Amino acid sequence: MLFQEIIHAKCLCHRLSDAEIQTMVDGITDGAASEGQVAAFAMAVLLNGMETEEVACLTCALRDSGSVLSWDADALGGPVLDKHSTGGVGDKVSLMLAPMIAAAGGFVPMISGRGLGHTGGTLDKLDAIPGYESQPGLELLRRTVQSVGCAIIGQTDDLAPADRRLYAIRDVTGTVESVPLITASILSKKLAEGLDGLVIDVKTGSGAFLPGIEPARTLARSIIDVATSAGASISALLTDMNQVLGRTAGNAIEVTEAIDFLTGDHRENRLEAVTVALAGEMLALGGLSESAEDGESLARRVLDDGSAAERFASMVRALGGPGDLIERPAEHLAAAPVSRPVTTDRGYVSAIDVREVGVAVIELGGGRRLASDEIDPAVGLTDIAGIGEEVGPDAPLSIVHARTEAMAEEAVEHLRRAYTISPDQSEPGPAVIERMGATG
Ligand code: URA
Repeated sequence: MLFQEIIHAKCLCHRLSDAEIQTMVDGITDGAASEGQVAAFAMAVLLNGMETEEVACLTCALRDSGSVLSWDADALGGPVLDKHSTGGVGDKVSLMLAPMIAAAGGFVPMISGRGLGHTGGTLDKLDAIPGYESQPGLELLRRTVQSVGCAIIGQTDDLAPADRRLYAIRDVTGTVESVPLITASILSKKLAEGLDGLVIDVKTGSGAFLPGIEPARTLARSIIDVATSAGASISALLTDMNQVLGRTAGNAIEVTEAIDFLTGDHRENRLEAVTVALAGEMLALGGLSESAEDGESLARRVLDDGSAAERFASMVRALGGPGDLIERPAEHLAAAPVSRPVTTDRGYVSAIDVREVGVAVIELGGGRRLASDEIDPAVGLTDIAGIGEEVGPDAPLSIVHARTEAMAEEAVEHLRRAYTISPDQSEPGPAVIERMGATG
């Protein structure tokens, strides 16, 4: 079967057969399909779409292009669960969620990504922890999940290699924003983890890749339908990204907020709402609670009794990080030399361009302009104001943490541009907007 004939069929809006999709993915995996052919295939799918059965076939073919983990549920003693977020600013949920699920009896082999576009990546946050081995390979992943209950690591070469090549080509050919391709890309990697249940956190709002609620719903529905047809248990939460999640954005800075959350020193309301809601979904999917509501209660219990914090500490230790990170984070996490409050006229925050806030973090060095850039773990933003909050000369929009005065100044300007201040106080929308399950 010729690759050009498969591409031609999709250009004519034909439904591709399983054999055609498998041939294309084999060609992506072994390099027999040229970069031009892969790009043309991606563009044809972007323009003409795919039916759910085609996306399911593409997902499974991408998943099976590498290793697929399998777990002995009886030997583990609990379900294997994970969460995927479509990406946001200040989204440090995974750092708390994985140990919470582990403390509640689940097992979480979480394969995370680096920052993409204006959003931060869990892996970059973990790399801010000295010694933490964020790409340990599958064997250490397996051992850590078995002994601690959770491990958050980066994608290895063995998992879904066809997606890695396809994604890299999409990234430079304007073919990222296709619901079938995003669905297959996300699910191929997650299903390769050998999961019993998966929750998707689909972000919507000014800091999300798909800002509108309808495109977010379409993506969530696509992911749910395809995962269900591949035999996975799944649900999705649509959550708000019209403001930064929590009070911080940056790498070491977000690790500190996650530790404060786990130890109970400080839990910002919206961050808590999203984290606990996702935990409730996961625990219900895994059969560790009767319902998502019961799962939320269990999640709060493992937070309040300190067992989630202990799991986080054990995970960090098992993957090479400092044994006393949660007791003494400031001794281990880098701090930036320059701090500057972002002052403003008095009023109330009525809107935030969260994408611009994410760009400010990148400009500070907390994200990448080029894939080859080194991240500065120390920089970022703390005390980030949310919608409805009173701000003014003595109540800053945020505090910028920068490497130099000039970089701080640039970030201050970004932040001022990102915020709309009004004389009247507005109410923020809910942090968790809606739930979508396999049946609706
Ligand atoms: N994240 C992925 O892993 N793949 C996509 O296509 C988009 C976001």
